[in-house]
Amino acid sequence: MNKFIDVISKEVKDAFEKAGYSRDYGKVTISNRPDLCEYQCNGALAGAKEYHKPPIQIANDVAGFLADSAAFSKVEVVNPGFLNLNLKDEFVSSYVAEAVSSDKFGVDKVDNPETIVIDYGGPNVAKPLHVGHLRPAIIGESIKRIAKYAGHNVIGDVHLGDWGLPMGQIITELQVRKPDLPYFDESYTGEYPEEPPFTISELEEIYPYASGLCKKDEEYKAKALAATAQLQSGRRGYRALWKHILNVSVNDLKKNYEKLDVHFELWKGESDVDGLIPDMVKKMKEEGHAYMSDGALVVDVKEETDKKELPPCIILKSDGAANYETTDLATIIQREKEFNPNSIIYVVDKRQELHFVQVFRCARKTGLCKESTGLEFIGFGTMNGKDGHAFKTRDGGVLRLEYFLKEISDKMYEKIMENKQLPEEEAKQTADIIALAAVKYGDLSNQASKDYIFDIDRFTSFEGDTGPYILYTMVRIKSILAKYVEAGGSLDDLKIGTPRSGYEKTLLMKMAGFNQMIEEAFKERAPHKVCSFIYDTANAFNSFYHETKILSEADEEVKKQYIALLKGCLDMLTACTDLLGFKAPERM
Ligand code: ARG
Repeated sequence: MNKFIDVISKEVKDAFEKAGYSRDYGKVTISNRPDLCEYQCNGALAGAKEYHKPPIQIANDVAGFLADSAAFSKVEVVNPGFLNLNLKDEFVSSYVAEAVSSDKFGVDKVDNPETIVIDYGGPNVAKPLHVGHLRPAIIGESIKRIAKYAGHNVIGDVHLGDWGLPMGQIITELQVRKPDLPYFDESYTGEYPEEPPFTISELEEIYPYASGLCKKDEEYKAKALAATAQLQSGRRGYRALWKHILNVSVNDLKKNYEKLDVHFELWKGESDVDGLIPDMVKKMKEEGHAYMSDGALVVDVKEETDKKELPPCIILKSDGAANYETTDLATIIQREKEFNPNSIIYVVDKRQELHFVQVFRCARKTGLCKESTGLEFIGFGTMNGKDGHAFKTRDGGVLRLEYFLKEISDKMYEKIMENKQLPEEEAKQTADIIALAAVKYGDLSNQASKDYIFDIDRFTSFEGDTGPYILYTMVRIKSILAKYVEAGGSLDDLKIGTPRSGYEKTLLMKMAGFNQMIEEAFKERAPHKVCSFIYDTANAFNSFYHETKILSEADEEVKKQYIALLKGCLDMLTACTDLLGFKAPERM
């Protein structure tokens, strides 16, 4: 379906043409003076120079051809040459009626769907998820859902950190604690046990302990480095142990991401590309890109236009080991081979920008992917506490995601119990649902690149630009629809009617922007655009609701049309919240 703004613009463009001017001047925008008109066109001012005519004359000429337009109820020429436009009620409602009965509310099928790999999440195994993992999960999942909705093939990859020093550290510490395990016996040739020699809680305790020790104890660190190198070069027992670490950890991560309603198509990690590294390095050397510098193998990535010094990209460390750049480069090769993507999107902390500039440049220079493959870095800002510093526990520690979510959920539970009569069990489940919305909406309504303050009181409020407010609005609509059905009404065969008030028309005009919003949110990778659409629509709905008798409307036909509008609005809001990764409960 053509976008609403384009349909309106077409009318005005046609008029420009009929009046003897270029169509290009006929672009219409939403009015920046809603007190004066709904839409406006400033093309006459822009065209004055080309046609050597006063803009007011051009505007008058054009207005003459708009007089009997199907779209406009008012076309006003205002000095020095603006066209102020209002739409016919019927024109707005028939567009929205068509949209709500179309597939995806009028978002067209794309002719050439893109294949997009999106790399988000990025947790390191053996560590519990903490609040630092929230943003990539929430933003990445939403960008993925938006791209899918827009009609593309999208593959989300968690890209686990599972191949570096942390693995060597865990192995080293396990050897200290359980030296008799067969994994450490180099002469052992039998099958290794299927049961892991630790639980997730043990693992989560061992890793920080070992990593702390490495900072203090040189000898211990040397052991951990050696274990890492032996693991990477294929020592059998270490590989078996590492598989256990991976399995135990991934099971736990899956559970936690599930709770966040975040789902990955791929559970690959840095380790998966290990086998690609030797050939990649060989090629970089042979083609003269990689050279030795201070013992390390590097590729220069600086460019003449750089304002800041850009250090070379390190391909192999001086001990010959792979590093973060190496695995990211090899992963590009792997994704290119497996998916032949149009683009690879990385949703990662913006503090890693330099790393990605190096990796992308190196990949281009050494031809790891085709030239047309987009490599996009979407760097997100930090989620801060009210003190303006990164979100921490009260004693300054890293806050586990589970505990954080629990805290928000408890807060929502209290609020629900204050107001209402929900049974205990339902109140608990509802609290979880609203808490997730509070967290996700609070995050996504900000531009991803900006830091923001997670203000619990504000984010959990039922008023203002918050997740709970959005859900509250949706639940309100659900409850009206339910009452309508209870009283014998049907939600089938409904059709939106011509608006009977300014409030109704405003709501319709907001809803008419849905397909445009999806297009922009996809192109700009911008979930916050979905949030502003939802918020504007929810506000418009609530104004309409407060001014309109819906269920007590005496005229059954009119009531039916209101119900059609409510149903369309709820369906649209539901599609939007789904793009953000949360849902509305039945009641709250
Ligand atoms: N594991 C990394 C970290 O904790 C994040 C991975 C992001 N993705 C990537 N392809 N580098 O910093």
